[in-house]
Amino acid sequence: MNAHTTVGQLTVKPLPNCGAEVLGIDLNNLSDSELAAVKKAYADYGIIFFRDQKLTEDQHIAFAKKFGEIDINKFFPHIDGYREIAKVGKEKEQKTNIGGGWHTDHSYDQVPAMGSILVARQLPPEGGDTLFANMYAAYETLDDETKAQIANLKAVHSNGHVFGSKAYYNNEERTEFANDEAVGEAVHPVVITHPLSGKKALYVNPGFVLRFEGQTMQESPPLLHKLFAHAMNARFHTRFQWKPGSIAFWDNRATWHFALNDYHGHDRLMHRITIAGVALN
Ligand code: OGA
Ligand code: MN
Repeated sequence: MNAHTTVGQLTVKPLPNCGAEVLGIDLNNLSDSELAAVKKAYADYGIIFFRDQKLTEDQHIAFAKKFGEIDINKFFPHIDGYREIAKVGKEKEQKTNIGGGWHTDHSYDQVPAMGSILVARQLPPEGGDTLFANMYAAYETLDDETKAQIANLKAVHSNGHVFGSKAYYNNEERTEFANDEAVGEAVHPVVITHPLSGKKALYVNPGFVLRFEGQTMQESPPLLHKLFAHAMNARFHTRFQWKPGSIAFWDNRATWHFALNDYHGHDRLMHRITIAGVALN
């Protein structure tokens, strides 16, 4: 899995620690064998990156639909005329960015989204990279005692502290996320068997998990923070530098991501489509 693979002009180039680049394709003109290679790379690596693509909004939707149903986010503003496309933006006078901490999308849903396809639309002159973390490697490298401790644990994933009307994303400069009716929780195993790869992955994230099932928010942090700190080690990470035409397509069950917020005074706009997944076990 660490060697380059090629299908026609298409090359899958693994990156250190996390993910792979898929080069030599045009996402608007995918042959069946290229689509199969993209699906395989996605299942093998948990996140794939594309460069130099030109997708309109309709083409972004058409590409997403090759992988499943679109899961429309309940909180994000969407772009004009396209409910399927979430607007992930920061304007030059804003200070808070979206996704500026380790998290994975939609884990607060009982059937969490499979993946997210993020297309760069407007980039700052410098900065605004995204970090991705490999949750297979994070799980595999836990010590045996910790693996035994979490083997049968479940975690509660909540979103009220992020998207509620009094929460993080609803403040003096952002109010567009508030949707108290959609706020809720879901319970998932701390270690999942990944539905595509069959491998075990660590499935707790700092953005949405506040406690283990059956434990309080006072009891949970020692072990939970130990797991978070472990996965935050840079040896599991890759840093993606966006350019015009760049696309990242990540699996929310196999990775975490973190949008760096180091470009104050400039606009950054990304379009995200989230694809429906399956219940996890
Ligand atoms: C997201 C997200 C990261 C980024 O769209 O889910 O976290 O770099 N975005 O914009
Ligand atoms: Mn995100």
